[in-house]
Amino acid sequence: MCGIVGYCGDEQAAPILLRGLERLEYRGYDSAGLCVETDGKLVTIKASGKLKNLAALTNDGKAINGVCGIGHTRWATHGIPTDTNAHPHLSDGERIAVVHNGIIENFRELRAFLENRGVTFRSDTDTEAAAQLIDYYYDGNLIGAVQKAVSQLEGSYALGIICRDFPDTLIAVKKSSPLIVAHTGGGSAGYASFLASDVTAILKYTRDMTYLEDGDMAVLTRRGIKFYDAYGQQIEKTVTRIDWDADAAQKGGYAHFMLKEIYEQPRVIRDTISSRINGMTVDLSDAGITPDYFDSFDEIKILACGTAYYAGVAGKYWLEQLARIPTEVIVASEFRYADPIIGKRTLAVILSQSGETADSHEALREAKRLGAKSLGIINVRGSAITRECDNTLYINAGPEIAVASTKAYTALLAGLYLLAAAAGQKRGAISPERLSAIIGELESLPDKLEYSLKTCAEAAQYAASQYFNHSSVFYIGRNLDYAAALEAAHKLKEISYIHAETYAGGELKHGTISLIEPGTLIVAPAAYEPLTAKLRSNIDEVKARGAEILCVTQEHMAENLKSVSDYMITIPDCDATISPFLTAVPLQLFAYYAALMRGENIDQPRNLAKVVTVE
Ligand code: G6P
Repeated sequence: MCGIVGYCGDEQAAPILLRGLERLEYRGYDSAGLCVETDGKLVTIKASGKLKNLAALTNDGKAINGVCGIGHTRWATHGIPTDTNAHPHLSDGERIAVVHNGIIENFRELRAFLENRGVTFRSDTDTEAAAQLIDYYYDGNLIGAVQKAVSQLEGSYALGIICRDFPDTLIAVKKSSPLIVAHTGGGSAGYASFLASDVTAILKYTRDMTYLEDGDMAVLTRRGIKFYDAYGQQIEKTVTRIDWDADAAQKGGYAHFMLKEIYEQPRVIRDTISSRINGMTVDLSDAGITPDYFDSFDEIKILACGTAYYAGVAGKYWLEQLARIPTEVIVASEFRYADPIIGKRTLAVILSQSGETADSHEALREAKRLGAKSLGIINVRGSAITRECDNTLYINAGPEIAVASTKAYTALLAGLYLLAAAAGQKRGAISPERLSAIIGELESLPDKLEYSLKTCAEAAQYAASQYFNHSSVFYIGRNLDYAAALEAAHKLKEISYIHAETYAGGELKHGTISLIEPGTLIVAPAAYEPLTAKLRSNIDEVKARGAEILCVTQEHMAENLKSVSDYMITIPDCDATISPFLTAVPLQLFAYYAALMRGENIDQPRNLAKVVTVE
């Protein structure tokens, strides 16, 4: 969703702001803008549509002088995506400019208050109220005006602010929406301060960043950054070293980030798993999970959105099968308003690639309010959710840029599998023999993923070439195949815009089978061996009604399913519990190639945002 970048330093600001915004494009946006202080004026350029429009208007930023400015990519919430509604927003009189992520919920009241006092608004946005309010309180003391204004804002905000009267100063302030700042004291980047909503925007210049907490204010100049708490007291903040490097956020020769990220999965899974397997035990002590941790709760609620939610569906099966812990997986946006019955013997597990998703964040807060313990299984280090979870298990997937999640999905699966195995081992729910078999399977998983990527790609591409012009596809599976099918259908929908729906294998006949007609495609991950015979019966039912079947199964089971499959993709033989990792690969590739053949914008699908910071 929206992205913020700010710069104040020795160099011309606008080209740096544009480069930073390019790095934030993956989050999803529909307009962009920047504002730079030039000769005592705030020069503002905005353009709806892609960043290239803004770059064209400014000759890649070179047409705008000035060394201090703010930029923004906007994903419309209040007001349609026009030039006027794009950020930065200026106060009447153009003294203050603001970029904003989040939603100011009381903006209508604030707007009425200011309009009654003669202030003229130009846009339909909630953000403009913040710019106008800061100006309203401004009497020469910028920090004081920002403090007064933000104390009246309700909702969520990360704000980057500049003022015509302070040509070398940026102000950053936040509540419930992430914001980071960084300073480079010399070196190749020269003297400069940066602010950004996301580390990827400024990774090129530095890896040492400071995360602002709710209520913090940072005052940035080219010489350094000063921090203040909500009461205006100067405070010290710690610097976090980001271990991703700028190259990790580049395409590295692949046509799309999504393809690159699919091919990164063997390495990612190795990174997630290897340091956590210690001989014949699973060791999650890096997340503060010691064996007695598993005595402190009786049930688990997994809370997540989108792909992370679908990873949670597999997690539920694992936690119940391997650890015998009653587990429920709940869409975070539903959980937060459901008046859930949980308490201090509940462990809330928050799954999130970004660690920023607003609904997951609020679900965490609700779980904590009700007394639950919390564990985040998260990719982005230091992200908002990790800072509020009691414990965090990082999945180490590195930056995921494509909107459609692939490597973070399988890495979330790995985090959940490790949790289930560790819990099963401590609670005695799995025998030592079974545990060592599971550990062996986990250790061989990266190689099997590597092998699948080599052997499945062509078959997935061929299947996509047969079906990419279909308008509707059904996915079926049972148990862990069902979990895999949910995410596989989600992938196809997100990037190819083909309608796709998943049913538990036994459920299709209770209504949806009426939609099956000759030529309808059914995709069936059929690799969870204990139930493939049952799933085969469900495949027979639709086959008998003219459906065509794309089946993904283990090599040793292929013979059995051949006669009912129009297309078959095989994955290496594996323990049934491991199968969702391996069925994911060809079905991600199937979605990728279907979208490619339809000519869609694979890395930035329409209407979607990578990081959803609104509810
Ligand atoms: C958005 C993205 C999805 C993602 C979901 C949850 O909707 O488009 O791809 O799965 O958010 O994101 P998270 O960062 O919490 O895993």
